[in-house]
Amino acid sequence: MKLFLDTANFEWIRKLNQMGIVDGITTNPTLVAKEQGEFEEIIVRICKEVRGDVSAEVVATEHDGMVSEAKHLSSLAPNVVVKIPVIPEGLRATKTVSGLGIRVNVTLVFSANQGLLAAKAGASFISPFIGRLDDIGQRGMEVVEDLVKIRDNYGLKTEVLVGSIRHPQHVLEAAKIGADIATMPPEIMEKMMMHPLTDSGLKRFLEDWQKAKKAKPPITV
Ligand code: E4P
Repeated sequence: MKLFLDTANFEWIRKLNQMGIVDGITTNPTLVAKEQGEFEEIIVRICKEVRGDVSAEVVATEHDGMVSEAKHLSSLAPNVVVKIPVIPEGLRATKTVSGLGIRVNVTLVFSANQGLLAAKAGASFISPFIGRLDDIGQRGMEVVEDLVKIRDNYGLKTEVLVGSIRHPQHVLEAAKIGADIATMPPEIMEKMMMHPLTDSGLKRFLEDWQKAKKAKPPITV
């Protein structure tokens, strides 16, 4: 399973990417708005740092505007993937943009039917937002289960990219279901590394090592 960071924050991206655990990045207008600098500058900097796919989202809401933004964004770096919302104009733009050889991540997917339509329109990635569904009392992971089943039933090339992840358990569940990618805030990737028994175990190893060094006489031959 590929693990993406859902952030436009360069410091976080660099820190976690150096560990070799980041396969790509997703951004959205809200995440970009939190950071200093121009949108394009932010995307280009991230694309240089991370080898994998970097999603950058259009803000137009009609076909021609989306297509023109998509062409511009994809010219910024070879690893840019254009994010387009799953609205009717977005599906039409997905067909046009993917026909130009530009990879599209169809976003704001809240039902398996929306995902199925996105796949038909030519999306390389479909992004169900599971946390936002959980927030309104629906089981977000059910959409992921349905999309993975549909992908497998028909051998679709579209990758299921699970977004709106709220805790490490979401990542684990998505991996067990067979989703292709989970994208998460950096804090959640950091939490995935942590276990109190790792910390207490290491503390004990280091204490025992120090004690043994003091207590043991050297070997004499
Ligand atoms: C995915 O690509 C989106 O950027 C993201 O996961 C949205 O998550 P949120 O519901 O935490 O804003």
